[in-house]
Amino acid sequence: MLSEKTKGLRGEITIPGDKSISHRAVMLGAISQGRTEIRNFLQGADCLSTIQCFRSLGIEIEKKTEAGKGCDEDIITIYGKGLEGLSAPSHPLDAGNSGTTTRLISGILSPQPFDTILTGDASIKSRPMKRIIEPLALMGARIQSMKDNGCAPLQIQGTPLQGIHYFSPIASAQVKSALLLAGLYAEGETSVTEPILSRNHSEIMLCTFGAEVKSEGTTATIQPRPHLEGQKILVPGDISSAAYFIAAALLVPGSDLIIRNVGINPTRDGILRVAQAMGGNIRLENKNDKGEPTADLHVSYSSLKGTIIQGELIPTLIDELPIIAIMAAAAQGTTEIRDAAELKVKESNRIDVMTKNLSAMGCRITATEDGMIIQGGSPLHGASIQTHKDHRIAMSFAIASLIAEGETLLDDKSCVDISYPGFYSDLEALMK
Ligand code: S3P
Repeated sequence: MLSEKTKGLRGEITIPGDKSISHRAVMLGAISQGRTEIRNFLQGADCLSTIQCFRSLGIEIEKKTEAGKGCDEDIITIYGKGLEGLSAPSHPLDAGNSGTTTRLISGILSPQPFDTILTGDASIKSRPMKRIIEPLALMGARIQSMKDNGCAPLQIQGTPLQGIHYFSPIASAQVKSALLLAGLYAEGETSVTEPILSRNHSEIMLCTFGAEVKSEGTTATIQPRPHLEGQKILVPGDISSAAYFIAAALLVPGSDLIIRNVGINPTRDGILRVAQAMGGNIRLENKNDKGEPTADLHVSYSSLKGTIIQGELIPTLIDELPIIAIMAAAAQGTTEIRDAAELKVKESNRIDVMTKNLSAMGCRITATEDGMIIQGGSPLHGASIQTHKDHRIAMSFAIASLIAEGETLLDDKSCVDISYPGFYSDLEALMK
């Protein structure tokens, strides 16, 4: 399928639910009193890992399918047991490939009256966990990397915590969220100040469930021991998944596409700002500003030019940088990505992997310490792509293959299931 060329992507698509928001809805539902119903929950492997972890912690979670408008709709129901309701698991918790599960759940597990071991796949066992181990330890947590290499598996001996004010050296929503979740259980308030504001879904959802969270600039502060009450959550479409379709519609001549109900939270919308700065024709329609804001995105083929991406923009598009690099390869002129060293510690080293794979397709690209310099405009040709089982690398090169001459082969297509199980069929359905 990847070698098949298209005359453009046309029509409309509703993409699956937001991964970050789906994780948080399960976690907060589990530690709230009563029933939480989640609609448009992302059924990707990462979010299913979060569900599995909370089932192992004694929480009943049900999936039922209801007939919706035009298609069946899955609803996740969580029977929450309140802040004190989790029970000791009988085996190590498995977070699979999910950094969000591993880091956020550590904040919930640290103050429990029981011990846990938290593990995951080979990628998780090589990703940095010191970033949560150190601040949680400052709160009094007893959390250790079992191999003493700063990575999972983690051993967490539950113990009471104290609130702290933590100045995080990195802009990371996973670090911030781990501390805010731990702060629910701590003695006194907990604050996190980041160098740049990262995605604020935890702050928003904690407030929805009844917690007291204040955000001022790049500082979030939570008060302990709230009464959290189960909620009805509607998860918006994931802008990180929409990004592949935005790029495809911008890059493939003849495209004109509507992407429905996409989350456009300003801490996540950097891809829209960058695509527009590159000359991309993207119109936001049917905006809805209640809770997590959403809009329909109307995207059409555009001739793109290079740009500079750096500073405060980076956390707002960190997961989109691989597909932005593909857009940059097709654009006229140079694109420079700076201040994005975090890319090295994602599901793969995305600076290295993007540079090698795009070079293999004929792009002039140089890796830097904290980003990439991409000289756009050289025609791309098909190549064998090493995905490193990274879902975002696989989806980025599936889109690159649409504009490359000749055949492109991915060494692993199935890793897209981490965040977008229906990706290839959704893409094919739009190719006219
Ligand atoms: C996420 C935060 C980001 C992002 C990840 C999901 C989250 O990671 O890259 O895919 O849901 O909090 P960092 O917090 O490490 O930047």
